[in-house]
This record gives sequence, C-alpha cells and structure tokens, in this order.
Amino acid sequence: MSLLIRNGRIITATDDYTADIFIEDEKISLIGKNLDIGAENIIEAENKLIFPGGIDPHVHFDLPFKHTASSDDFETGTRAALFGGTTCVIDFAVQNKNHSLYSALDEWNIKAYNKSYCDYSFHLNMTDATPDAIKEIKDIILREGIPSFKIFMAYKGTMMMDDRQILAVMDEVKKYGGIVSAHATNGDMIDYLVSKYKSEGKLNPLYHYLSQPEISESEATGRFIDLANLTNVKSYVVHITCEGTLNKIKEAKVRSQEVFAETCIQYLVLDASLYNKGTDSAKWVISPPLREKKDQYALWSAINNGLIQTVATDHCPFLLKDKITEARDFSLIPNGAPGIENRMELLFSEGVKKNRISLNKYVELTSTNAAKIFGLHPHKGTIAVDSDADIVVFDPEEKHTISVKTHHMNCDYSSYEGFEVTGKCKTVIIRGHIAIDDNQLLINKGFGKFIKRKL
Ligand code: URP
Ligand code: ZN
Ligand code: ZN
Repeated sequence: MSLLIRNGRIITATDDYTADIFIEDEKISLIGKNLDIGAENIIEAENKLIFPGGIDPHVHFDLPFKHTASSDDFETGTRAALFGGTTCVIDFAVQNKNHSLYSALDEWNIKAYNKSYCDYSFHLNMTDATPDAIKEIKDIILREGIPSFKIFMAYKGTMMMDDRQILAVMDEVKKYGGIVSAHATNGDMIDYLVSKYKSEGKLNPLYHYLSQPEISESEATGRFIDLANLTNVKSYVVHITCEGTLNKIKEAKVRSQEVFAETCIQYLVLDASLYNKGTDSAKWVISPPLREKKDQYALWSAINNGLIQTVATDHCPFLLKDKITEARDFSLIPNGAPGIENRMELLFSEGVKKNRISLNKYVELTSTNAAKIFGLHPHKGTIAVDSDADIVVFDPEEKHTISVKTHHMNCDYSSYEGFEVTGKCKTVIIRGHIAIDDNQLLINKGFGKFIKRKL
C-alpha cells in the first residue's frame, strides 16, 4: 500500500519544514517538496502539523490491582491510544512474587496477542529478585528484546523491593546493557502514614494524598539514583511529580550521572485541590498523588531545562464502582486513572498553545525521547526515510472539550471532564495504514505488533 501526505508542516525533535511524505510498505520512503509520484491514498495536509506517532512509555492494561483490574485491556486501551495520536505503547509485564520473569512475560503476551490495535512492547516489572529471576534477565534482554526493567520502592507487602534486591537487579541489567526504572516513593513512610491516618479514623481520599508527601517521593528518588550510581546502570524515574524530586535529578546531573526522568500529563495539568471533593476525589487517587501549583511550575521548567525527557500517562483506569464504593477507606481504592487518549492533545493545548514548550520539545516529550531511551529509535519516534510510517496529522486550531461522553477509553469518567482543548489528531497512521480518520477507526483489532527493542 502507498500513501502520500502532501504539504504538511513536518515537526520532529529538531526540524520544522513543509514537505510531502511518500509511504510504501509501512515505511517512509521519500520526503520532499512537490513530489511528483502516484499513490493509492493521498492526504492533503495543508495547514496541518505532522508529528511522529506518539509513544507512551508508561501504561497499564488489564493490571490486577487490589480487588479488581484496570478497566482498559489491550483492545480498548490501544484503540483509545490511537484516537489520541499514540501509535506505540510500553506496558509492564509484572512478575508475581515467587514466580519467574518468563511467567510474567507469558501472561502479558497472552493479554496482548491479537488484541492490540497499536504497536506495543513491555518493560519487565520485577517484584522478586530471586536468584532464578536474576538469571533470567540475560535472556529477557538478549532474546526477548526487552531491555528495560522496573522496580517498585512502594506498595509495601505486595510489589515493593528493598535496596538489596534493587542492587541485585541493577548489577545484572547493567551487564547486558539494559536500563532500570523505578516507581520511586518510600514504601515504609507511606505505609506508616496510611496506618496512622486509618487508626485516627481518617479515611477519605484526602488522606491518600496526605500519606504520600513530597518527601516520600524525593527521598526514594535520591536513594534510587544513588543505587544506580553505585552499580553504574542506566536509570529512569517514572511519574515524577514534584520540586523535591527534581532537585534529586539535578544533583545527579551535577555529578554527570545519566538519569532519565518522566512526568505524566496529569501532574502538569491537575493539582491537589481535587482532593477536596469528598468521595468524588477517589477519581484522582493515583500514586504518587497530584501535587501543588508550585510543583507544576517546577515540572514545566524542568521540561525546558532538560531534567525531564518524557511525558507519559501511567494510564491505569478503574471503573467508578471500583473507585467510589471503596472510597470510605482510601487505602482500598485501586490506584490509577485514565489518560492515554488525552495526552497528546492536552500537552499540545496546555504546552504549545500556552507557549510553555516549543513544537520541537513537544515531539521530544511525546515520542522521540521515549524511542531513544527505550530502544525504539530510529524505527519509531521520528519522521525520516526508512522510519516506520507512524504519523499524526494534527489540526492545531480545532477546539474540542474532553468528556467521558466522547472518549474511547473503557472508563466511566474522565479525569479531565470539561477541559477545553485546542488541537486535534485528525488522521493517525500506523506503519503506513490509516488507523483513524476524522474520528473513524479504520484498522482491525490485532493490527498492533510486539516490537523487540535494543538499547
Ligand atoms: O496510581 C498508579 N500510578 N497506578 C498504577 C501503578 C503505578 O504505580 O504506576
Ligand atoms: Zn507507579
Ligand atoms: Zn504505572
């Protein structure tokens, strides 16, 4: 199949120019002015921006959590991703305690196989650094094409690892050239505060927020970075929310340590005032919690001064029946919220349109940096000859309002209900196939494929 996109304004992490793009056999085969070439499909893209397809490096489909599981699976979640301009996602295959890494991988392969609309990969989320699991790291990286590992420093009693275990993971991942990422919050501090508030009868969702103060995140981030320094492994901190944590990242840069940092769209545009809504606040029970306005300023500035490389979603939606009925005790509310469909448009509207970030920075944050850090580049994350033709044709002026009534995520509320957004993904192309055109889905379930990665 061939496709010609004419006269679009092509934005990459470094370029901004107007040209035509010719696509053949899933790849970009030619870029140039006024291409005189026949194609089966033509898209007229005058006055449109052309971005590389979004890459969301932090999503959780079908994740078991407390008494339930996240409500988007690979089918509904990746479909919603495409509507929002994301053409590739990286989920987390979670190891159960006392189980092998391969059993986690098998489980996630089954969840995704023949269901995914967009391309996908997994990080291996280790929860138990048994000697056998450590031995498997080599094959996970070299044979399976999964060079990124994640550990939790919180969720005490379930997924949390202690420092000794983290060091064992880091040492082994380093040997084979991988990267270790962390949910870096102090599980003991949080566990202590949760018990304390509960014993005082303080159960509403506000206490979720109060039991994960800024210092619980900054302390763990500093510790994680120090462990990575000791083992000299590449490291990535997921879902950074606050100024204190950014100070730890800054310290690492001062000593020339390579640490990558991610924030998520919710931390840039929502704040902790949402925890003053009584039981409704359960909708925003996420970990780490939303923070203060001063933290939002710090995050935007960290994006521009190079401390933060990616804006992900940590998409992990739950239905209201799971969020609200348990809201009488904040510690029973499953952690997470929807967002995969909103990331690209919200970041454009709140970032580019409000002059907080440039167009090139927008592409870095939504696509290129994730591709480079996690071994998808140059096949993905850019618009160049021989790259996968994953492309978003974007109308920078179209206004719309985010609502549960119109979104495609399998979640019966929106974290951003009523948000007015400027900018819309009009046509979304994945490996040369038009997946979304004017709000219509045009590809079949199972189109998305697993992408092996190499750093
Ligand atoms: O609240 C969140 N973030 N839920 C998903 C799991 C995680 O911690 O990333
Ligand atoms: Zn997390
Ligand atoms: Zn997460």
